[in-house]
Amino acid sequence: MLYRSASKERLFLCYSIHMRTKLLNLKNQALALIREAENKKELEHLRIQYLGRKGQINQILKSIPGLDDEEKQKLGQLTNDVKTAIEQAIKTQQQSLQKRPKKTWFDVTAPGKLPPQGHLHPISQAIEEVTRIFERIGFTRVRYPEVDWDWYVFESLNMPADHPARDEWETIFIDAPPHKKMGQMVLTTHTSNGQVREMERVKKPPIRMLNIGKCYRRQQDRTHTVMFHQFEGLVVDKNIGIPHLKGTLDYFAREFYGPQAKSRIRPSNFRFTEPSFEVDFTCTHCSGRGCKFCKSGWHEVGGAGLVHPHVLKAGGINPKKHSGFAFGWGIERSYTLKPRLNIDDIRLLYSSNLEFLNQF
Ligand code: DAH
Repeated sequence: MLYRSASKERLFLCYSIHMRTKLLNLKNQALALIREAENKKELEHLRIQYLGRKGQINQILKSIPGLDDEEKQKLGQLTNDVKTAIEQAIKTQQQSLQKRPKKTWFDVTAPGKLPPQGHLHPISQAIEEVTRIFERIGFTRVRYPEVDWDWYVFESLNMPADHPARDEWETIFIDAPPHKKMGQMVLTTHTSNGQVREMERVKKPPIRMLNIGKCYRRQQDRTHTVMFHQFEGLVVDKNIGIPHLKGTLDYFAREFYGPQAKSRIRPSNFRFTEPSFEVDFTCTHCSGRGCKFCKSGWHEVGGAGLVHPHVLKAGGINPKKHSGFAFGWGIERSYTLKPRLNIDDIRLLYSSNLEFLNQF
């Protein structure tokens, strides 16, 4: 009835526009739902809903009344375009669903993944451990220069210039003008440079020093690196003797290597101690029975002795009133001898190889 009125043409046009909008809305809605479809079943459902015999597009087409031919053709063309677009979208979604990995079960209450966390370098860990061990018996941790004067590294330790004992330390000299009294500047070859420096700092005994620092020597092989760490103990007080030294070494052996570990001292010669000793610790691989690592049941780690009177004097201490003991050796060496570590090449510690370092 409506379309047979006087303005029939205008009404046809209005109706046609209305239908086109409807079709385009339908298309947009269909495409959005298709893109969100999660599986084949949902897609098939959408196909029937839009393109099926009783689907929404056919419903729209059926409702097209007696439009004139031109309008009918235009609408027919649009309907076909919409159908093709929907079919194409279903195909594309089907393909992308096939490529998508299947969803596995996911526990939403599972704790999140922690970002990887680093840890202290094994040598820093060893330094901490050595510090704690000596702190418990009253030692104070100090650090002295790693570039120091000849005086503190050699001369004050009873090693005058040109003394052959100096040859033991493969010294690296700094190319700088020498100090008038303290001589040439060197990279510290041992932490013993802290002995006289500590006596000057404390001035009056008692002294219980633990000096840990970097040392440098011209050397490089499986058991030596150019840069390494040493720790140096120095005790100065009244009536200090060898039993104090031996007790301290045994204490360290037990704390660092385990309750069965012991220390052994053998006569040796250092210019800054009198008497002097080599210090050995029980081999932790064989608990002292003797094995292919140690041969004798012992590992030699460093030196020790009673502080030489010349050294006390160089530090301003009267050797008639006070005496002392000192010991010193490498952190790396001590650490690699720990039970079950089996590090046979010290250089690995400085290789920055995470596969190696993450083990500690
Ligand atoms: N400084 C020595 C070295 O590097 C080790 C040492 C020996 C330290 C005897 C001492 C000591 O304190 O008394 O080989």
